[in-house]
Amino acid sequence: MSKTSGYDAFWMPFTANRDFKANPRIINRAEGMYLYSDDKRQLLDATAGLWCVNAGHGRKEIGEAMSRQVAELDYTSPFNFGHDIGFEFAERLVQFTPKGLDKVFFTNSGSEAVETALKIALAYQQARGKKGKFKLIGRELGYHGVNFGGISVGGLTTNRKGFGPLLPVDHLDHTLDVTNNAFSKGLPENGVEKAEQLERLIKFHGSDSIAAVIVEPVAGAGGVIMPPKGYLRRLRDICDQHDILLIFDEVITGWGRLGANFAAEAFDVLPDLMTSAKGITSGVVPLGAVFAKDEIYNTINDAAADGSVEFFHGYTCSGHPVACAAGLATLDIYEKEGLLTRGSGDIGTYWQEALHSLKELPGIVDIRNYGLIGAVQFAQQDNGKPIGFDILKKCYAKGVMVRSMENTIALSPPLIIEKQHIDQIVSTLSEVARDIW
Ligand SMILES: Cc1ncc(COP(=O)(O)O)c(C=O)c1O
Repeated sequence: MSKTSGYDAFWMPFTANRDFKANPRIINRAEGMYLYSDDKRQLLDATAGLWCVNAGHGRKEIGEAMSRQVAELDYTSPFNFGHDIGFEFAERLVQFTPKGLDKVFFTNSGSEAVETALKIALAYQQARGKKGKFKLIGRELGYHGVNFGGISVGGLTTNRKGFGPLLPVDHLDHTLDVTNNAFSKGLPENGVEKAEQLERLIKFHGSDSIAAVIVEPVAGAGGVIMPPKGYLRRLRDICDQHDILLIFDEVITGWGRLGANFAAEAFDVLPDLMTSAKGITSGVVPLGAVFAKDEIYNTINDAAADGSVEFFHGYTCSGHPVACAAGLATLDIYEKEGLLTRGSGDIGTYWQEALHSLKELPGIVDIRNYGLIGAVQFAQQDNGKPIGFDILKKCYAKGVMVRSMENTIALSPPLIIEKQHIDQIVSTLSEVARDIW
């Protein structure tokens, strides 16, 4: 193997490096709903990459907009200087966010959006004189990226252990309840009372020590867990009652994934801060964002001396002009093709019914769905080894790319999906389940 064509140098993220490099799965081309492997196989993308390629692969409009932007202005410092396309993109973005979330801070990823949101929450409490409010509440099985704030509030043990002391946080219990809610279509009926744990944590820590609660409206990486009916509304009410900020991490639930612009809209619950990334550029180029209420922005600004920097935070590539160009072109596609509401229309209904048709297959213990998200949870094997990764490999061999989490297969296709693609995903999962059990 030559020095430039080998697999040695790339330390792959969230990957079993040795296993992968012994048997690589290389994708070198993509178009529409499909990926193409180096052995020239066509693979249906049932996960939109990592919940991000919402407009489908190979959208020329996005590439052309980026190319024009490079020719016009490739980069300029975002500290103390601005560029028109950054302001244009910000104004356009807040046309899509729920009313009230009208300020946007740009980052480069979901993880950075989470760190930024947590820091805004802390800065806000300081700015309003609530100096003791510095603790954060997350949730078991929550995923908020991989930076230190995110893994502190995150609730995935593997991502937390081994990294030393984290931030002062506590966690709500997760809301997955296969015993009472198995095979729910849409939001599960049972579990609203789990929100009451927030009251207990507030009593334990004292509301004067808690800055913010952060949750994913639908937990993704922790197993695709829909919120029980009324749960998010109850969290909102408890936060209001105790003067605590509510942050929705909408890195996967934003941009049409739930059949609405954001989960905040789909579930009619307005957070104080909302993170975004991934679908904001349809995954073409890294970009993240935090949307904040005016009151938060104004309070932080008003607390600083005239002419001084109000919030000591930002990235070299915050609002990168080329990423903004990609984002604007992505929003054009979403609007022109009506992609953001497809999941709550006929195709969303077809998706739901097709997934739930797998219910009678052997080995399946739960199926969950909302908008264009789906999860199929398989039984724990007698040997205790999670089966998800084996299923992923078998689906890959049969031409469908899925994601695995322990015993769960997660599905989040591009929003351009049509019925024939849904049929292919479901028939492949069905064949694989029959092969295994
Ligand atoms: C809810 C949520 N937050 C944050 C992140 C981190 O985003 P990134 O990988 O872009 O840093 C992810 C990634 O999957 C996510 O699902």
